[in-house]
Amino acid sequence: MSGKELSRRGFLASTLALPLLPSPLLPTRAEAIEMAASFPKDFLWGTSTSAAQIEGAAAEDGRGLSIWDEFARQPGKIVDGSTPAIACDHYHRWRQDLALLAELGVNTYRFSIAWPRIQPEGTGAANAKGMEFYSRLTDALLEAGIKPMPCLYHWDMPLALAQRGGWMNRDVASWFTDYALLMARHLGDRVTDWFMLNEPSVTAIFGHGKAAHAPGLGGGAPATLAALHHQNLAQGTALHALRAERASFRLGTVLSLQPVVPQSASEQDRAAAIRWDAVWNRVPLDGLMRGSIPDILAEPMSALVKPGDLERIRFPVDMLGLNYYSRMTMREAKGALFDADFGQSPATSYTAMGWPIEPGGLFEILMELKELYGNPAVIVTENGAAYDDHLDSLGPDSHGQVADPERIAFIRAHLLELARAQKGGCNIKGYMVWSLLDNFEWAEGYTKRFGLVHVDYPTQTRTPKSSFRWFREVAKTGRVY
Ligand code: FCB
Repeated sequence: MSGKELSRRGFLASTLALPLLPSPLLPTRAEAIEMAASFPKDFLWGTSTSAAQIEGAAAEDGRGLSIWDEFARQPGKIVDGSTPAIACDHYHRWRQDLALLAELGVNTYRFSIAWPRIQPEGTGAANAKGMEFYSRLTDALLEAGIKPMPCLYHWDMPLALAQRGGWMNRDVASWFTDYALLMARHLGDRVTDWFMLNEPSVTAIFGHGKAAHAPGLGGGAPATLAALHHQNLAQGTALHALRAERASFRLGTVLSLQPVVPQSASEQDRAAAIRWDAVWNRVPLDGLMRGSIPDILAEPMSALVKPGDLERIRFPVDMLGLNYYSRMTMREAKGALFDADFGQSPATSYTAMGWPIEPGGLFEILMELKELYGNPAVIVTENGAAYDDHLDSLGPDSHGQVADPERIAFIRAHLLELARAQKGGCNIKGYMVWSLLDNFEWAEGYTKRFGLVHVDYPTQTRTPKSSFRWFREVAKTGRVY
């Protein structure tokens, strides 16, 4: 299926309201202000980006090709026919982007390291130029008082490794661990906090089960489960190796967790929601937190799971990165992946991605982590929204401005849920907006804008949006206005 046919997490509007989990009541304004005021002084406020989406400089300084370079080259895969070759040109403009972060007043920044910049062929010695880039970025962040929180893998696998099977090959556990150790040894004197993978369920489902994301495998359920299991294994192996490398590291990984609700009360839709939940949420979460796999997947995963695997996958993370955008409403769809497909959400408003706006789902996930998974320390590593932002010029001498009240409302609503969950005893350590900059939104190319900062791609001009100024106040005061 091409990117055109399938916007990931694509939903349709509906008035049907049959969620399994009751949507929590929104607090009153007075309550909200009271609760929001409770974000502690040491709370981490930040933004997230990823290498493939902002860096560009695809062929520079010895960087190898990634699966997204190759995927974007294929006609019809990216809606606007674009590629990540230039993106936001962050590789050259990183000082300017760091100045924006400093102006935003955040105390942390999650970026990702491009594996193909470090190991152009995916294995072997480190490419010095690639290392230097992240080393300089790290030093500059520290100098600006911004804690670097790198993520080692945000979807840009070296193409050479994909040609050897990539996430379908068990050997990926040692390839990834070698790469993780290279990074830890090089930056470990300055970087204390490390995330492993970004959203393994998206990689498995959209890149391997379906063909909407790189590497575009389209291998159905077997490929989805293999990619999931091998990501779990790679992540667990690397986590144990990094812990052995330096006991003081703070280690974690980043999961996309979404409450899954059936579109209707029918047996079929309920069963579809349970299947989807098992794949999307439980394989990553139960693997990491409990060293188990969901019962309904035990049989289909039996050939993949070798003795000792579950012990390697389980790891007591110091921080769990949680990416949250919406709930998922699922229906039975015979013949679709796991006989399930996106259904009609009961939400009444949607972002430009077509994703329903459901801030209550963030509260539900956090409470579930508290009640069922031992209340791990959680950092919301991504939350945000795409809207059709416009740069309005105020005249020939002005730099223009971008008014994005919808994004402010979106982030605000989610922060209120976060405050509510915190009040409910959840162990929440930070919140990062996706994203600092408008950027290459995977199969959607440059058509979707998630940034607090607008990017005019032909000129690479950065213009902070009104949400940027609003979020600066939040980060400064710890209060949500
Ligand atoms: C997440 C991805 C991130 C970005 C946002 C909108 O799933 O991790 O790179 O695409 O969605």
